[in-house]
Formats: sequence, C-alpha cells, structure tokens
Amino acid sequence: MKDLNRQKILMTGGCGFIGTHLVNYLAARDNTITILDDLSTGSIEGLPIGPNVRLVNGSTLDKELVRQVCMDQDLIIHMASLVGMELVVEEPIQSYNVSKYGTRNILELSDMSTPVVLFSSSAVYGLTKDQRSQEAQAISQQAALDYDAGKLGYASGKWALEQEGLAAMAVGKQVQIVRPFNVIGYGQSSTYGMVVPKFIKLALEGKDLTVYGDGNQTRSFTYIQTFCEVLDQLITNPSAWQRGNNVINVGSDQMTAINTVANLILDKVDTQSKIEYKRYDTVFPGKQDVMHRRPDTTKMKALIGEREWPTIQDMIQEIITKSIQEENTKDWNLQRA
Ligand SMILES: NC(=O)c1ccc[n+]([C@@H]2O[C@H](COP(=O)([O-])OP(=O)(O)OC[C@H]3O[C@@H](n4cnc5c(N)ncnc54)[C@H](O)[C@@H]3O)[C@@H](O)[C@H]2O)c1
Repeated sequence: MKDLNRQKILMTGGCGFIGTHLVNYLAARDNTITILDDLSTGSIEGLPIGPNVRLVNGSTLDKELVRQVCMDQDLIIHMASLVGMELVVEEPIQSYNVSKYGTRNILELSDMSTPVVLFSSSAVYGLTKDQRSQEAQAISQQAALDYDAGKLGYASGKWALEQEGLAAMAVGKQVQIVRPFNVIGYGQSSTYGMVVPKFIKLALEGKDLTVYGDGNQTRSFTYIQTFCEVLDQLITNPSAWQRGNNVINVGSDQMTAINTVANLILDKVDTQSKIEYKRYDTVFPGKQDVMHRRPDTTKMKALIGEREWPTIQDMIQEIITKSIQEENTKDWNLQRA
C-alpha cells in the first residue's frame, strides 16, 4: 500500500480510544471507512460518521457480518478487543475469545489479497523484568498465562491473535502485527482501569488517587497522535510487511514511574486529592504487576526513522486542559438548557 489516501478501510474496534483518533486521522485523508464495533466499551462520540465513515454495530465474533464487512476492502485494521485491566480481569474468557476468534474470523473471511494490521499488545511479553521488550525475544503461551494469573485472559488472547496472524502469513496473507505500548491521550475512558485518564478524573473530582503497589513500576507512555502517524508510516512501508520485519513494537521508550504520573497530575490540577497506596494483590488477587514495561524500538526506528515523542508532562497537560474544557462546555450547555 503506497499511501493511505482514498482507500477503502475496515476498522474493527473503531469506536474505541485509538480507533476514534485513527478514524479521524484517516477520514481527513479522504479514505472511505467502515467501522465494525459492538459498542461494548466504545462510543460514536467524536466520530465523523457520514458519507465516508459508516458504522456497522456488531461483533467480530459474528461470522456472517464479518464476511459482509470484509468484502471489497483495500485494508483492514483490526483493533476490536476488551481493553483495560479492570475489564479484562472481570471478563477474562470473553477477552480471550474476542482476540482469538475475532481475529480468526477477520483473517479467514477477508479476501486473501486484503492486507490486515493486527493490534496485539506489549502484554505478550508477559511478566518480563527490567529489560526492554524486544520483538526477537521468544514469546510463549506460558509467559502470557503467567501474566493472566494462570487462566486464559487478555495476554493469552493477544498471544493467540499473533498465532492466528502467523498462520495466515504462512499461507501467503499480508499481515502486520503491531504491539502498542501504553497509548494515552484525550478521549481515553477512565472506566476500565487505564491509569492516566482514571487519575485525571479522580483529581478533577477532588478524590484520592489510588496507586497499586509502591508506584515505582514504570511504563512507556505513548502519545496517540504520534502513534497514528507512526502507524501510517508503517502501513505504507513495504518493508514493514515483510516476514521478519512485520511484528513491531510501537511506542515511546521514555520510562515514567506511576508515582511520577500521579504527582504530575496533582501538580497540574487545582485539587485537594492525595495519593493513597494499595497492595496490588488485594486489588487483583493472584495477579502480579509488571514492574517495567519499555519497548525496544530499534525495529520501529529502522522502518520509520527517528521520531520525537511528546513528553509525559506535555501529554498530561493536554489531557487535563481538554478534560476541563469538556466539563466547562457541559456546564455551559446545562445552564442554557
Ligand atoms: N490503549 C493502549 O494503550 C493499548 C496498548 C496495547 C494494545 N492496545 C490494543 O489496541 C486496540 C485498541 O485499544 P483501545 O485503547 O482503543 O481500546 P478501547 O477499549 O478504547 O477500544 C476497543 C474497541 O473494541 C470494541 N469491541 C470490543 N469487543 C468487540 C467485538 N467483539 N466486536 C467488535 N468490537 C468490539 C469496543 O466497543 C471498543 O470500541 C486493542 O486491540 C488493544 O488491545 C491498546
């Protein structure tokens, strides 16, 4: 695919956080987009639904529907998934099934010549400690199960998604597997356990921020707009579809401790909120937290060149500013009603 202009694109999970940003990004380039989303956690708010962006409300587990929406597409971006620690702990099997069987449906029921981008996750690296997660590192079902506390769940589902992708590649399908690392930005739901939107919402409401564990665990927070641009560069780079190159970590490699995130938010919001700590295993019994999650970005950089990623300070400031603007608009509309 030479460029992402005037293409017909199917996006599963397009009503989610990343999906909404990506749909807007691609719609602005004159692409014709079909979204397949069951609206289980997503919403149509912020989506440019219209002549060039159509929403089909349904599940990737519905084979007949998948067959219909896959027809006559130039590209499929497959993001549909259950996301967020609290949600996937509540619904581990559904999380696994949507990843494994939803992906199988997309790969089997789309035309052999339609390229498919699969959204995996850094969770496939399991509970790896301290080092940068590198694509060449062997990933295993056992590592995913360790992450999922011994039961099928989110990480096992993403592992299974990758296996489906590798099997499809083996018979000649064009597949690119991306492994995003903690993508954040305005519009991310605070409901399902994503740390940044949750802390910002609590701070704006004057409630305490609960940090699980000692807060020294680190993550590599990745800005959504840059993520969309990088994905565009990867999709339009033929080398990124070649076997050996086509499983790619996508993210910033700046590490930030959860304590730093909490303190930055408390500094930037005028609030009485404080930080409180809870033991991780009292919140998620049987599960272990990943202490450090940082991508090795050598492969991504070889494919797209050096990228500057926004700092955590700038990302948090932007999300807070937009969240306050949204609250003010709601208040203003209520006063006028
Ligand atoms: N946000 C991140 O930091 C991050 C990190 C790693 C991987 N990912 C992956 O990126 C993708 C998008 O993540 P997100 O943050 O936008 O999540 P999200 O929860 O905001 O979006 C997921 C979307 O999938 C939809 N969905 C769920 N089950 C479905 C089904 N069976 N059929 C159709 N639609 C269904 C939901 O309604 C929602 O709109 C996911 O595959 C996720 O695993 C995200």
